[in-house]
Amino acid sequence: MADIRLEGVGHSYDGGRTWAVKPMTWTWRSARAYALLGPSGCGKTTLLNIISGLITPTEGRVFFDDRDVTGVPTRGRDIAQVFQFPVLYEEMSVYDNLAFPLRNRKVPKQEVDRRVRQVSRLLGLDQVLGRRSRRLDAGRQQIVSLGRGLVRSQVAAVLLDEPLTVVDPALKWTLRSKLKEIHRETGHTLIYVTHDQTEALTFADEVVVLNEGAIVQAGEPSELFLSPAHEFVGHFIGSPGMNMLPAEVVGHVVRVGAAEVGTTKDDLPPGPVRIGVRPEFVRIAPAGTSPGVPARVTGIDRMGAYDLVHTLVGEHPVIAKTEAGSPYRPDAAEYLHFPAERTFLFRDQVRCGSLAPLDGRGPA
Ligand SMILES: Nc1ncnc2c1ncn2[C@@H]1O[C@H](COP(=O)(O)OP(=O)(O)O)[C@@H](O)[C@H]1O
Ligand SMILES: [Mg+2]
Repeated sequence: MADIRLEGVGHSYDGGRTWAVKPMTWTWRSARAYALLGPSGCGKTTLLNIISGLITPTEGRVFFDDRDVTGVPTRGRDIAQVFQFPVLYEEMSVYDNLAFPLRNRKVPKQEVDRRVRQVSRLLGLDQVLGRRSRRLDAGRQQIVSLGRGLVRSQVAAVLLDEPLTVVDPALKWTLRSKLKEIHRETGHTLIYVTHDQTEALTFADEVVVLNEGAIVQAGEPSELFLSPAHEFVGHFIGSPGMNMLPAEVVGHVVRVGAAEVGTTKDDLPPGPVRIGVRPEFVRIAPAGTSPGVPARVTGIDRMGAYDLVHTLVGEHPVIAKTEAGSPYRPDAAEYLHFPAERTFLFRDQVRCGSLAPLDGRGPA
């Protein structure tokens, strides 16, 4: 186990014209469980392959603790990697597939057996250990592939690249909690790549959000939800994502259209900003009863557990998540209230401040 440190690491597949991973400096700390979250094409696989040594980065250096491994091939790095598409020996039994990474490293037979059975029990493979892997369905094959990544106990890190894509959703929940269990037991450094926020948030100690080849924020799930540092995190995490609304800083007051929504305690130069507030925190009041931003209800989704009230502020959509059975009606005029402690200001997509209550301004 080791800290994995990337120093100015970037990768281009086209001689530097575009960056699949933009030069970054970042440390994956030993024994932590990370989720690497981002949309398709944002550079997740490239980044994993740089860590495992399948790709030598165009720029920068990779360290495992103090050892520079930039030029060290995969085999010399002691990394277990599970790929998005199962890599199995189809004619071998499930048992032999699981045993392969251990036998390959001359682990004593008894220890091989012990580890294989341990992983098999955890992943629910006991019934199929004797079966040829070719005869399993795609989901099971992916689980065997996952098992192969987890079977070695002496590794610097375990890298999992969207390892559960073809596993059925109910089983995914179970497997993720097993993974957590295995992680607690072995203390491996774990990097779990996914484009699915639910997977990332339920699994990781720390979620690293990647967009267009750059890390935009890393933190605990609650941090990303409550305090997004970048608009991308606001809308990528949460369901639906954060509402973003054009606003204006005038002196210390923040305005949406003509409505004052709060003040800014940060020393923000005046000018346009976008305010971000999650649907969970938008409050709705009947027109005129409270200070707020005038909005028109355009529709309501009754989701069972909650309602999504769709509104327009001018021409900008804002969604409020309310209790199920809310009384709002399409076309009604309402006022939206954005609680200061849950509302943030963004410029050029990056958070530049937060909102303070209007009455914090003192006497006018
Ligand atoms: N072997 C390759 N050759 C050229 N471009 C590639 C190659 N692999 C990935 N890319 C490009 O690099 C970017 C990042 O890809 P990738 O790391 O696979 O993203 P992700 O795993 O997040 O979907 C994408 O624009 C992709 O098209
Ligand atoms: Mg990928």
